[in-house]
Amino acid sequence: MPMIASLDRSSLGTGTTIRAVAATARSVVPAGLLCRTALAVCQARHMTRTQYYTAMSIDGFIADPDNSLDWLLALPRSSTRSARFTAFFAEVGAMVMGSTTYQWILDHEVLLSDPERWHQDYGHTPWWVFTHRDLPQVPGAGITFVRGDPGVVHPQMLAAARGNNIWLVGGGDLVGQFVDRGLLDDVLLGVAPVFLGGGAPLLARRITQHLRLTGVERDDEFVLLSYVLDEHNRLLTADRSA
Ligand SMILES: NC(=O)c1ccc[n+]([C@@H]2O[C@H](COP(=O)([O-])OP(=O)(O)OC[C@H]3O[C@@H](n4cnc5c(N)ncnc54)[C@H](OP(=O)(O)O)[C@@H]3O)[C@@H](O)[C@H]2O)c1
Repeated sequence: MPMIASLDRSSLGTGTTIRAVAATARSVVPAGLLCRTALAVCQARHMTRTQYYTAMSIDGFIADPDNSLDWLLALPRSSTRSARFTAFFAEVGAMVMGSTTYQWILDHEVLLSDPERWHQDYGHTPWWVFTHRDLPQVPGAGITFVRGDPGVVHPQMLAAARGNNIWLVGGGDLVGQFVDRGLLDDVLLGVAPVFLGGGAPLLARRITQHLRLTGVERDDEFVLLSYVLDEHNRLLTADRSA
């Protein structure tokens, strides 16, 4: 299963489809929680939500100072987490990430030497990778390299998602850029029982919008948290950033 899936879901294996992957480990976010909130309303109406779904240490880092996720991958897998990720990924119509995350996936899923794995793991879900550089493209994969203001590209992501959700994979500053443009709807976190003391921050912004807590759940040693950014304040932020 794709390692990226395991990022939060904490454990992808190798070789399965991401949906299986999803099934395999990760999911830090309780699917049930998604369905108990306004999210369910939007999903029922096929309204796209832009969601930051990830795993972090207790002290708020998504990777250690060496950009390693070994601390996460080493944790025991939970079967319920797999099911949750499967439910989450079933609603994903587009994936977005920065170049560090992309390169981590390339390295750990050996996608350049085995490009077919991209389709096996991610199906036809299109990716957008933000970078100022010429990064290697996975042959045959639906990956678009972009740069600059996420607000310019977001409409393309919305169109491609076709009513499904946009998964902001990370990292934290890129997600912050979406926040700057008022484009983040949900934050779905899995808190791993680890202190890293430093590394890549969860989200490098002060968010002034109200974060409405919509779910708290324990999954073995993980704590699963779901937040919805207040719609009214989100619009205000969008106005300010325009
Ligand atoms: N715990 C988890 O579940 C989880 C989830 C996701 C990621 N991760 C890990 O967390 C770490 C995140 O790394 P990171 O903080 O460096 O974040 P990142 O977002 O993956 O990469 C940041 C880089 O993306 C490029 N970029 C960002 N915004 C851009 C823009 N608007 N236009 C053009 N390029 C842009 C820049 O690089 P260039 O322009 O130089 O290319 C920037 O240095 C990685 O190690 C990743 O594997 C963990």
